[in-house]
Amino acid sequence: MANKPKIAVFASGNGSNFQAIADAAQIGALNAEVVLAVSDRPQAYVVERAKEMGVETLVFTASQYGSKAMYEEMLKGKLLGLGVEWIVLAGYMRLIGPVLLSAFENRIVNIHPSALPDFPGKDAIGQTLSAGAETAGVTVHFVDAGMDTGKIIAQECFPVNGRSRDEVEAEIHAIEHRLYPATLQQLFSR
Ligand code: GAR
Repeated sequence: MANKPKIAVFASGNGSNFQAIADAAQIGALNAEVVLAVSDRPQAYVVERAKEMGVETLVFTASQYGSKAMYEEMLKGKLLGLGVEWIVLAGYMRLIGPVLLSAFENRIVNIHPSALPDFPGKDAIGQTLSAGAETAGVTVHFVDAGMDTGKIIAQECFPVNGRSRDEVEAEIHAIEHRLYPATLQQLFSR
């Protein structure tokens, strides 16, 4: 593994976690080079953020491909061509399929806004609050074929304490923006 691993960040939305990772890499707090931002949503704000940071973007529309395997083959070609060593999922709302899982075995990580294994899948914050859970959380984990089921790398929890959804969401983002770059830094220096 190179001293400064090349990473690709996959995101479907706002990209605040992309921003935190790219900022950390830029100031040297994260020893990695963000060489590509991948988005499956052409309108996603993460695309603007990447352009602003001078990071190459790859935007694709899944429905224009016949299957997940077909668009993942396209992504794999691009990633390998750029020498990407790690895939970092940051609000990427698609399951990763066998093509990328086998090309990047144990080198795909994800962040999820709950204390996994509780509340996997979509709207984890809504699930947490609807269930009346006493704690909310953030988990960084390796990606496997399941939905948010891979081995946990780092996790942080906090008490909900009757706070509103907006307040819980703000706390989760604050934790994510600190925890994700720090966890990646530890992972890359193993
Ligand atoms: C983050 O809260 C992340 O944990 C979540 O999407 C948000 C993306 O925010 N990911 C998932 O729910 C994955 N199942 P961002 O676009 O501002 O980084």
